[in-house]
Amino acid sequence: MQIQENISLRPYNTFGIDAKAKYFAAFDDVDELEETLNSKHHNLNFILGGGSNILLTKDVDGLVLKNEIKGIKEIHEDSEYVYIKAGAGENWHQFVLHCIERSWAGVENLSLIPGNVGASPMQNIGAYGVEIDDVFWDLEAYHLKEKRLVTFTRSDCEFGYRESVFKRKYKDQFVILNVTYQLRKKPRFNTSYGAIEQELEKMGVKDLSIKAISDAVINIRSSKLPDPKSIANAGSFFKNPEVSVTKYEELKSAFPGIIAFSLVNGNMKLAAGWLIEQCGWKGFRKGDAGCHANQALVLVNYGTANGGEIYNLSTEILQSVNEKFGVILEREVNIV
Ligand code: FAD
Ligand code: EPU
Repeated sequence: MQIQENISLRPYNTFGIDAKAKYFAAFDDVDELEETLNSKHHNLNFILGGGSNILLTKDVDGLVLKNEIKGIKEIHEDSEYVYIKAGAGENWHQFVLHCIERSWAGVENLSLIPGNVGASPMQNIGAYGVEIDDVFWDLEAYHLKEKRLVTFTRSDCEFGYRESVFKRKYKDQFVILNVTYQLRKKPRFNTSYGAIEQELEKMGVKDLSIKAISDAVINIRSSKLPDPKSIANAGSFFKNPEVSVTKYEELKSAFPGIIAFSLVNGNMKLAAGWLIEQCGWKGFRKGDAGCHANQALVLVNYGTANGGEIYNLSTEILQSVNEKFGVILEREVNIV
């Protein structure tokens, strides 16, 4: 265990925010985690994965712990499924590729999402018609106060759209150590979402496979979303808001171009990117804080913006969407 002092967190967050951590340490197993927590620097502020869903708005006057628990192994199988346990510190996309190589199906639509395995249940990551909820089996977490291991099943996690107990009621109470996924031996292809079918056709795919779906998703994502290595960002900054059908009908008659999807509960989900674009924010830049020119739902840091500047821009966007449409956007990114 090595605890560093006064280090810049800039390399550790995809928004490229230059906030400082008073103390910083990495751990690669639960013993090292406990050892670090029991050291004199026990004022834990937060657990860091790949730093792709956080906005640092200030220096951290305490300890930041980076989860680097590794390992991917098959722990069980039955006639339909394999059960794969992955360490929280494994890179998510590398994990997806590892599964595809071994014909373990279910996570291919979630290709190229940045970040680590440990954060995947945090906000029930989702893309192209699949969420973690669809493949989750259980996870092991360390209860920081009670200093004990707890297993969470799927129902314990209370997954919702970009939600789980870890983001709300148990916020900052647990360190996720590993996650077990239930993956299919025989794939069930999911190509219904967005442009997947179109992309597969463009690619000339004749025999559908999980690899082909993964490649299609990678192509679509690369054409739509800015790569944090070129322009710092944390993906969608806000959630797509849910409204009643009545509210949607009102909006539709005033704004016929509005983009929305029906939900199984009868409500409608609005495309927040469209709402933000209609308010004139797409491509907006103030200093180094901006709203991406091709995807208005993504806020970006062109270089030296600080977390406060990005946060203030998000507040202005939120206010203008509320004024124009009477819809309150909710931030998806974790504000630290
Ligand atoms: P971090 O940013 O490090 O942490 C996120 C939160 O989880 C923090 O509150 C942190 O304290 C907590 N946390 C992290 N690890 C642990 C742990 N082991 N135990 C307890 N708490 C922990 N998300 C989607 O759902 N779908 C997408 O399509 C998508 N696309 C994206 C595209 C881009 C370009 C970017 C930059 C981001 C995108 N995201 C997307 C958001 C992000 O990739 C996911 O939320 C990802 O799961 C974050 O993982 P991370 O390891 O980087 O988490
Ligand atoms: N749109 C606009 N203007 C914009 C952006 C989007 O009109 O500036 C329209 C698009 O034309 C499209 C609709 O809005 O008709 C939806 O856009 P897109 O397909 O790009 O998806 P999204 O709703 O913006 C969501 C997730 C992404 C996920 C994709 C694919 C949320 C908050 N975001 O984006 O997740 O990758 O769908 O499933 O749900 C993330 O969470 O960080 C993330 C990137």
